[in-house]
Amino acid sequence: MPLTEIDIQGYRSLRNIQLPLQQLNVITGPNGSGKSNLYRSLWLIARICEGQFAASICREGGLLSAMWAGPRTNAKKGLRMTLGFRHDDFHFQISCGFPTPSNSLFVYDPQIKEELVWFGPHQKPTTTLLERSVGMTWIRDTEGNRVEYPLTLDANESVLSQLREPHRYPELFSIREAVRSWRFYHTFRTDDEAPLRFPQVSVRTCVLSHDGSDLAAALQTIRETGGGAAFNDILTAAFPGRSLQIVSSVEEPWTKSPHCTELSVGLTTEGCARPLLARELSDGTLKFLCLAACLSSPCPPPLIALNEPEASLHPDLLPPLAKLIVETSKVTQVCVCTHSTVLTEAIQSLSGVEPIRLQLRQGETVVDQSFRGL
Ligand SMILES: Nc1ncnc2c1ncn2[C@@H]1O[C@H](COP(=O)(O)OP(=O)(O)OP(=O)(O)O)[C@@H](O)[C@H]1O
Ligand SMILES: [Mg+2]
Repeated sequence: MPLTEIDIQGYRSLRNIQLPLQQLNVITGPNGSGKSNLYRSLWLIARICEGQFAASICREGGLLSAMWAGPRTNAKKGLRMTLGFRHDDFHFQISCGFPTPSNSLFVYDPQIKEELVWFGPHQKPTTTLLERSVGMTWIRDTEGNRVEYPLTLDANESVLSQLREPHRYPELFSIREAVRSWRFYHTFRTDDEAPLRFPQVSVRTCVLSHDGSDLAAALQTIRETGGGAAFNDILTAAFPGRSLQIVSSVEEPWTKSPHCTELSVGLTTEGCARPLLARELSDGTLKFLCLAACLSSPCPPPLIALNEPEASLHPDLLPPLAKLIVETSKVTQVCVCTHSTVLTEAIQSLSGVEPIRLQLRQGETVVDQSFRGL
C-alpha cells in the first residue's frame, strides 16, 4: 500500500487535516462536509506530479477560491495552501501562495513557496531528499550529495514534475511516476452526445480513461485478458438477463472502415433480438458499466479514487458495486467518497472497513471521531 497518509492545510474547507489511509478507504459524511474537497486534494496531488498544478488551480476558480476562506493562523507566512502525502516511507509536501504583486495579469497563479521530500517519520537535514524555497532548490543525488538543482524551474510547478535525469534521483522519480498513474473517476458523460455512446477506436486499453470515453475498448481488453467471465458475473448480479457484447465494425460491415476497426458497447437483453448498443442504453446502465470497467482493470493503477459513485445508480446496484470495490481493493488501493449509507454499509459488511466520517465544524472539515471504534 503506497499512499499511507494525506496531509492538507488551507485547501477549501480542509483547514488542517491529516488522514491516515488504508488499502480501502471509504470517506463519508453529510452534504458539504468536505468529501469532494478531499477527493479533489488527491486529484491536485496527481496534477502536481504531472506539472499541471497551476492550470488545475486556475480552472477551479483560482487560488483565492481554492484557499481556506476562514481566519489565518500563521500571519507571518501569509496565505498558504499546503498539500502533502506519505508514499511508502517518503513524505512529500508542497506549499503555495500568491506571487509577489506585479503588473502581470497572472496575479492569481499559485507560486510554489516551499517544497520538501524527506524519508522516514521526521524531516531533518539528514533525511531530506529535496528542499526548495523561493529561488533556491537542492536535491540529494544517488551518491548522497546535496546538489543545487542546476536547471531553471517554473515557479508555479513542483520540482518533482520538472525533474530530468531519473538515474540521478531514482526515489523521486518513482514517487512521481506512481502518483501520475493514480486514476480518478467522478463523472462519466452519458448525455446523447457523450463519446462513450458512439463507436470508439479499437485499441487495447488496460485502464479506463477518467471520463469513460474509451469504455468499449476497456471492456474488450478485460474480456481478452481473462476477466470476461468474472465481468459477466458482475453484470448478471447488477442487470439480470443481460450480458456484455462488444460489437466491432468488422461485424457491422455497413460501418466498416478500410483503415481501422471501431468498437461499440452492446448488451444482449432478454426479449430483444439484437444487442442494444451504447447509444440505446440508459444513463445509469452506462455509468455502472464505467464503474465496473475501471474497477476490473487487468493492470490496475496504484490508486483508484471514486467520487460519489452512487450518483444516478438505483439502490439495487449498490451491493454489486460494493462487492466490486471490495474485490478491487484486494489488488490495489481504493478511495471512495460517498454519502450513500447503503454503499458505505455494504462495503463495511463485506470488508470490515470502518468508514472515515467527515463533518463540517465552524466551516472546517474534521473527522468525526465519535464513530471511531463503534
Ligand atoms: N475556499 C473555501 N474555504 C472554506 N470552505 C470552502 C471553500 N470552498 C468551498 N468550501 C466549502 O467546502 C465545503 C465542503 O464541500 P464539498 O464539495 O467537499 O462537500 P461534500 O461533502 O462533497 O458535499 P456533497 O455531498 O454535497 O457533494 C462546502 O460547505 C463549501 O462551502
Ligand atoms: Mg461532493
